[in-house]
Formats: sequence, C-alpha cells, structure tokens
Amino acid sequence: MVSKNLEKAINEQVNVEFWSAYLYLSMSAHFANEGLMGFANWFKVQFQEEQDHSLKLMNYLIAKGNKVELKPIEKVDTSWESIIKAFEDTLAHEKVVTGQINNLVSLARSENDYATESMLQWFVNEQVEEEEAVQGMIDGLKLIGTNGFGIYTMDKELAQRTYTPLNSTVAGA
Ligand code: FEO
Repeated sequence: MVSKNLEKAINEQVNVEFWSAYLYLSMSAHFANEGLMGFANWFKVQFQEEQDHSLKLMNYLIAKGNKVELKPIEKVDTSWESIIKAFEDTLAHEKVVTGQINNLVSLARSENDYATESMLQWFVNEQVEEEEAVQGMIDGLKLIGTNGFGIYTMDKELAQRTYTPLNSTVAGA
C-alpha cells in the first residue's frame, strides 16, 4: 500500500489528468466547430492520452491495494480567440502539471516509497515530451502567422496524428 498522504495526492492527480482530458476535448470540439478538423484531431488524441494518464494512476492505486476516489471535474473553457492561444493555454497547463508531478515525486521520496517514485518517473519523462511537442506547435504557428495556406497545410498534417493506447489495464499499468 502507499501511504494515506500519497493516496490522497495521487487521487488528486487522477482528477487533474481527467481535467486535462476534458480541456483538450473542449479544444477539439472548438476546432471542429471552426472547420479545422486536423487541429480537432490533434486535441482529440491529446484527450485520449490524458485519460490514459488518469487510468495509469488509478490502476497503480488499485495494484497497491489503495482506494481510488473519483472527484468532480471542474468546468473548462469552451472557446479560444486564436489557434495559438489554445496551444499557449495548453503549454501553460502542462507546465502546471509538470510541477504537480514533481511534487508527487518529492512526496514519494520523502516517504522512501521507491515503487511510487519509479511509477512516477514515466510521468516525468512524459511531461518533457508533452511540453516539447506543444512548444513545437507554438513555434510552427508563430512562423505561419496569418498565412492561410500555412494553416491549411498544418491542419492537414495534424489530421494524420493517431492515438496509441497506453495499455493501462490493471495488469499493464
Ligand atoms: Fe497528463 Fe498532459 O499531462
């Protein structure tokens, strides 16, 4: 079992990851409404990945004999004034998540809970990838600026992104 302290903190992170999923699903719907189906697809994959993050944490708690507690998911924004603003909001949010993951690692370390620290290492690495990917999107969008053909081409490219399940069943967590 993990400590009550860690159980509470991991359950809070489960909620954060579901909130992230909800945010990206909202962004996906927003872009679909705007006719930007590639951007909508990119955020839909993001939504699916975030659900996997929640499941991975939940499955870890279950595997350790701890209690999963799903909490209400807070409201998210439903529209963005520009494409780049959605990605800037995404990056800002991912940086918050990175800080939360780091806090979880610190807590696990302070309790000498090496199994939890090891499980969390996956999230540490994932956050580096996520921040890098979103920063790359922002850089690309800055280069494109208001060029309609650039946006059109990027939208077509993002339509190709596919979701790869994390295999986060209890056995595979
Ligand atoms: Fe699961 Fe994007 O943090």
